Amino acid sequence: MRYKYDVAIIGGLGHIGLPLGILFADKLKNVLLLDNNLKDKDKVMKGQMPFIEYGAESLLKKALKRNLIHITSLPEEIKNAKNIIFCIGTPIDEYLNPKTNQFLDVISEYSKFINKDQLIIIRSSVFPGICKQVNKLLGPDINLSFCPERIVQGYAIKELSKLPQIVSGFSEEAISLAGKLFQEVSKSIIYTSVTKAELAKLYSNTWRYIQFAATNQFYMISNDMGENYEDIRDLMMENYPRMSGFPSAGFAAGPCLLKDTMQLSNLSRNANFLAQAAMNINERMPEYLIQLIKKKHFLEKAKVGILGMAFKANIDDIRDSLSFKLKKLLSFEGAEVKCSDEFVNDPKYISKEELIDYSEIIIIGAPHDIYQNIEIPTDKILYDIWSLDKLKK
Ligand SMILES: NC(=O)c1ccc[n+]([C@@H]2O[C@H](COP(=O)([O-])OP(=O)(O)OC[C@H]3O[C@@H](n4cnc5c(N)ncnc54)[C@H](O)[C@@H]3O)[C@@H](O)[C@H]2O)c1
Repeated sequence: MRYKYDVAIIGGLGHIGLPLGILFADKLKNVLLLDNNLKDKDKVMKGQMPFIEYGAESLLKKALKRNLIHITSLPEEIKNAKNIIFCIGTPIDEYLNPKTNQFLDVISEYSKFINKDQLIIIRSSVFPGICKQVNKLLGPDINLSFCPERIVQGYAIKELSKLPQIVSGFSEEAISLAGKLFQEVSKSIIYTSVTKAELAKLYSNTWRYIQFAATNQFYMISNDMGENYEDIRDLMMENYPRMSGFPSAGFAAGPCLLKDTMQLSNLSRNANFLAQAAMNINERMPEYLIQLIKKKHFLEKAKVGILGMAFKANIDDIRDSLSFKLKKLLSFEGAEVKCSDEFVNDPKYISKEELIDYSEIIIIGAPHDIYQNIEIPTDKILYDIWSLDKLKK
């Protein structure tokens, strides 16, 4: 059977779905981006990215010129696609449990339009065991594969072609078809079982989250001893390869790390003490910072500015950013808080110059490169847990 689209991406306007769709279109695949939220459709169809994704816009424009990108919200359209890739979100709830039913409900909604000639790929980061349930739901005749996404947000276009793609599936055919498809956009393919692939994805994010927790814990110990943590970190790392890649202290946040660490924690029925300790440490950072400031300054009525509201450097995504927790805690202390972010479009935010001018105390919330060369007048107090100063050198 001939299909109108080579690839349909469900969640096609999201942070993972859209760059992947653009890359497939760059390899001359006819791509359908399916999303139940079309607020960014017009923008994308004009060749503009709705969020920061470095290197994506020129490829998007090229793909649109070739008429290889199509956008819809109609689930039945997936009937016309040979390969269907699920890139929807996999959130946890307010009690830190994965919303597995929500994910299965979406699959169920689309299953009516799936046939055994198609290849179904799950790309979201899932609670281990979910793919097996999807397999049960779709039936053994459907080719089902799990191929986790491993890029860091904002750099999908740069990274996808450089990273090996993990491919797993429930049949030889599904594995072989998924491998062939991802060969188009990946550096190489690593084949494995579905459970190993599910775990490898969660272990990777949990490992990063634990590393951030370790460095944050060391930061707190150093500060409590009156020592400069970055000096100690430099000592640890200088010409010492075993410590290479050891992260600086900072806010470990965003939509993936905590969420995936909690998915893994849930798998051990919450007896994953390392994951929970990491969460306690990382989520405590804003409060720790406030305690640090309070040792020297009154926060009641103090004019405080937060520079950087995104969840990490050089992107515009504020999802689960700890800058917001910091803002809330500061306001609770009676501080008069203003915010600024070079990348985030919010009419309430002021420019970095206005923020510096306004604030008595300035806190770096996200270490955007642009803040590295910022001049802070000597009568202002700067709190920079990331040590941007060091990055400057
Ligand atoms: N963001 C990252 O850097 C990253 C990296 C690796 C893996 N992941 C994983 O990829 C998945 C997607 O993450 P994301 O950051 O792209 O999320 P996102 O919220 O940016 O994108 C999800 C998209 O799915 C759409 N959607 C939701 N329900 C839908 C439905 N029923 N039908 C059609 N569209 C629907 C949403 O409107 C949204 O556009 C998650 O499992 C995440 O953990 C994300």
